[in-house]
Amino acid sequence: MPAVDQQRLFFALWPDDLCRERMVREAKKLHEVFGGRITRRESIHMTLVFLGEISADQAQAMHATGERTRMQSFSLHMAGAGCWAHNRIAWLAPAVTPEPLARLVKDLRRNARDAGIVIERRPFTPHVSLLRNAQCRPVETKIPLFEWRVQDFVLVRSRRDAGTSHYEILARWPADGIT
Ligand code: 2AM
Repeated sequence: MPAVDQQRLFFALWPDDLCRERMVREAKKLHEVFGGRITRRESIHMTLVFLGEISADQAQAMHATGERTRMQSFSLHMAGAGCWAHNRIAWLAPAVTPEPLARLVKDLRRNARDAGIVIERRPFTPHVSLLRNAQCRPVETKIPLFEWRVQDFVLVRSRRDAGTSHYEILARWPADGIT
């Protein structure tokens, strides 16, 4: 049980409506292949840094980090889909990780560690989880390429309610030059 003042937070990229609809379409196709539980439309995102259960002081530090962190806008060329058997997640992913995205994640991870938050050491694997509890099989999954223009990043609070995660965007920070 987390302490009273603890919050479950993460940094993420949140798609605009157009991108979200495209991802919903791909989620339905993946669901026909792999089954499982589809991510709700309003919950679709790409996690940048998962912070876990953190204290109010650490949450405040992460707000300050978001304020301070410089980000260049970039495009994600969403080109791949697949299913990870180890965690039964089906996902969409960009063809490559753009340099501004890698830098953003590196900066956020460093600041989170400086605030005493334990961050996973695994290399960042950009993906959007669209199915959980999927029955992954080695089948070809092709998606029509689409561009996700990223112009901001967000800090999100996750709450569990009756077995479902609900996400609340706490703050949004634009890329340099975007208002
Ligand atoms: P996922 O998309 O790979 O499942 C909110 O819970 C987000 O944080 C999810 O998108 C999830 O990533 C990620 N997340 C949840 N628990 C995590 C954990 N223990 N370690 C790393 N990422 C986690």
